[in-house]
Amino acid sequence: MDFELLDPTIAFSDQYMIGENIGSSSFGIVYKAKRLATEKEYAVKVLRKLPFRPHKLRNAPILKEVLILQNLGHTNIVNLHAAFESKKEIYLVMEFMRHGDLESLIQKYKGLDESVSKTALNQICDGLEYLHCIGIVHRDVKPPNVLVAGTTPLRLKLTDFGISKVVNDTTFMRTLCGTPMYMAPEIYAPGAGVDHHYDRKVDSWSLGVTLFKMLVHLSSHISAVIKQIPILKEGRSKTARLSGQTLPKVGPSPGEDAKR
Ligand SMILES: Nc1ncnc2c1ncn2[C@@H]1O[C@H](COP(=O)(O)OP(=O)(O)O)[C@@H](O)[C@H]1O
Ligand SMILES: [Mg+2]
Repeated sequence: MDFELLDPTIAFSDQYMIGENIGSSSFGIVYKAKRLATEKEYAVKVLRKLPFRPHKLRNAPILKEVLILQNLGHTNIVNLHAAFESKKEIYLVMEFMRHGDLESLIQKYKGLDESVSKTALNQICDGLEYLHCIGIVHRDVKPPNVLVAGTTPLRLKLTDFGISKVVNDTTFMRTLCGTPMYMAPEIYAPGAGVDHHYDRKVDSWSLGVTLFKMLVHLSSHISAVIKQIPILKEGRSKTARLSGQTLPKVGPSPGEDAKR
């Protein structure tokens, strides 16, 4: 792979010309970009480093996305081509998906028919199976995070590993993170268990909501129901995607995302 991970001697702007904004990111913005040497188009996610924090802490969440992405290789996962770092930003250069994301496709056709939804589900499942097999939980599966590489035939790729988590069989996850509408109940509702935590199956729930959205296309209805969930009404939903809060402890169990 032509990969230039975070080599501070190579500047992104020496090699690429940045183009139009194609998506917003929680930490930055996604742009279309052209590689000057080849004229080939890419998508570049520009992540702003957080100021006012010690260097290592400041970059930890952003670097996690780079570290996870650079180790992935699957037909249903977006391919990271290169990564660069400047004083204030990190640039993730990815293959450009000219058909945008699954959310736009669902909006455009006001829902997808059963056979298209089935194909989509199969492909996202393949991507997720690969991730889970190598110990990664995505934690933010939803149509905007599924890119459309082709429409005839349909080819989908998972993206956005900003809040993904590397796990093994004994890892506990407790962080309140994800997108409320797609979030598995065990993430936000501790229930009666003393040893509350969740596992990779949270991706399956989100995949189920994604399938529902493809077939039924009733986003406003789901949102209305979701807003009735007390913990989300309290306003935690606003910060869930960004900060990843920790659920209240309900028993004498280890701390956040601790190992058994
Ligand atoms: N490789 C890409 N090709 C085309 N569009 C992309 C690509 N990567 C991201 N986008 C667009 O940008 C949006 C935001 O990117 P994403 O990585 O999900 O950032 P965020 O952290 O804001 O969710 C996506 O929903 C998609 O519409
Ligand atoms: Mg996203």
